[in-house]
Amino acid sequence: MKKNTIDSTRVIDIPRIVDEGGRGNLSVIEKDCIPFKIERVYYLYDVPIDAYRGGHAHKNLKQFLVPLSGSFDVILKDGKNTKTVTLNKPNKGLLIVPGIWRELENFSSGAVCLVLASEVYNEDDYIRDFQDFVIAKKSTE
Ligand code: TYD
Repeated sequence: MKKNTIDSTRVIDIPRIVDEGGRGNLSVIEKDCIPFKIERVYYLYDVPIDAYRGGHAHKNLKQFLVPLSGSFDVILKDGKNTKTVTLNKPNKGLLIVPGIWRELENFSSGAVCLVLASEVYNEDDYIRDFQDFVIAKKSTE
């Protein structure tokens, strides 16, 4: 389990190209924007307003969450501290490093959460029990 704290998670600005002719915005994530190579892309959508996603930590996976549409809250925990980040701008994404517990909630109607991930799907990389997570974090102290 990685020693990382919630201070290692951060919001990253995604470059935005505003069309001079009033045709809207274009944002682009190129290789230098996020600190890992993308191996997988998935997205959450049609999430009911009272639903809760996440509820786990990863041992090695790095992820970058982008609210392509709408908004939602990401609650981050490192076993000691908690912080909540509201994502509501398609040109601002959240980097989540390994060893951080995350919960996603408060999805607005029509919200879409794009996730760029550093590894392909691997269930063995998950810690899905919060007490196991807290114990694993303590052992890194
Ligand atoms: P999970 O990561 O638990 O979703 P969330 O954190 O959004 O609540 O994944 C939900 C289910 O989907 C789980 O059974 C595993 C499966 N899944 C895949 O098969 N591939 C993937 O890339 C992801 C992210 C999940």
